[in-house]
Amino acid sequence: MLENRHIVVGICGGIAAFKAAGLVSQLRQRGADVHCIMTEHAAKLVTPITFGELSGNDVTVDMFANINKWDVEHIALAKLADLFVVAPATADIIGKVANGIADDMLSTTIMATKAKVLFVPSMNTNMYENPIVQENIERLKKFGYEFVEPESGHLACNTTGKGRFPKLETIFDAIEKCLYGKGLLKGKKIIISAGGTQENIDPVRYISNRSSGRMGYAIARAAAMEDADVTLVSCTTALPVPAGVNIIYVHDARELDKAMNSCFDTCDAAVMAAAVSDYRPKVQATQKIKKEAHDSLTIELTQNPDILFGLGQKKKNQFLVGFAAETNDVIEHGKEKLKRKNLDMLVANDVAMPGAGFNVPTNIASLLYKDGTMEQYPKMTKEELGHIIVEKIAEGLR
Ligand code: PMT
Repeated sequence: MLENRHIVVGICGGIAAFKAAGLVSQLRQRGADVHCIMTEHAAKLVTPITFGELSGNDVTVDMFANINKWDVEHIALAKLADLFVVAPATADIIGKVANGIADDMLSTTIMATKAKVLFVPSMNTNMYENPIVQENIERLKKFGYEFVEPESGHLACNTTGKGRFPKLETIFDAIEKCLYGKGLLKGKKIIISAGGTQENIDPVRYISNRSSGRMGYAIARAAAMEDADVTLVSCTTALPVPAGVNIIYVHDARELDKAMNSCFDTCDAAVMAAAVSDYRPKVQATQKIKKEAHDSLTIELTQNPDILFGLGQKKKNQFLVGFAAETNDVIEHGKEKLKRKNLDMLVANDVAMPGAGFNVPTNIASLLYKDGTMEQYPKMTKEELGHIIVEKIAEGLR
């Protein structure tokens, strides 16, 4: 994904400087050509040798040290960069760039680059929430600089709050958005469901299915990369939330129904990738069912609402996408669902095929449209299919 991409990483003097080592190492492992610039304070926290080893390139700290080639280093790196990632970004570098100050190697190179610059702020909560820092961030956003929000949690200064260095996966989502996003869904609101519902039998047992949530999360990630305002209604908790995505966790079909409906009226597009239990136990025991009390057990089931059908009934201008998980006559069943549920597009997957459907990283899908046309795709990663689905939604909304 990052092959042949030149990424300049700016490392500032925050305690999270050591976490930038993991970022640089991963960038290189994913194929990027990585160059590091450290501020003098950063070099007091982690030695430049670490970043030199991990990036495979010289590390620059002092603008005037080692002038052995008459290439103006800050201009050379500014020109070379496809992307600048400043991680951790301190209040100091944010303040400098927001106010046009270029007084060291990092701030000078940022000022001289035409590449996108992604700041990953990480600092003490009070510093982060300081209105001066917040105003500088807003000013930079207005000029087109990108940001990854810090996480909340325990901080090195032994307090708890917002300011933690984000997970690497979150930073990589933002990097890919900066490099590959085309803004196809800018200004559009999209809701996506993912994962398998869990229908309680008693407090410790439930009925569910094999959905991992990967397909829905991949669509959410692709939509966020295209600048959509994304809400992911998730029945699963194991997967990391993609960067910039609002998350609503639900448990069973009725909670999912409520969450989808609460967002539907104001959205531009909705995707039901979740595997919804068609039935739930008619009675949910409030205490654990004891085997000593039953030689055999019959659980009566009652139907859950068909959420997608309900959305199809109330839709106005929304672009509505459903899935069909089938094991036979996939296209025929898909066409029938597309029509009956009043959809604009349906993603039909044959979940009996190896490498498709539940709980695998790949899928094999056909996209069916309400005008009767159809496109069939070979096996690909759910990430790749997510991008195709998002492109089709963007076309549908045009
Ligand atoms: O999560 P993964 O492990 O990545 O797996 C992905 C997937 C196989 C779950 C996904 O690709 C998929 O096929 N999702 C839909 C599963 C499903 O419930 O299909 P269905 O054919 O039973 O339902 C048709 C459509 O109606 C679906 O969009 C479903 O979300 C919706 N539905 C179904 C039942 C119900 N009561 N309410 C609904 O809204």
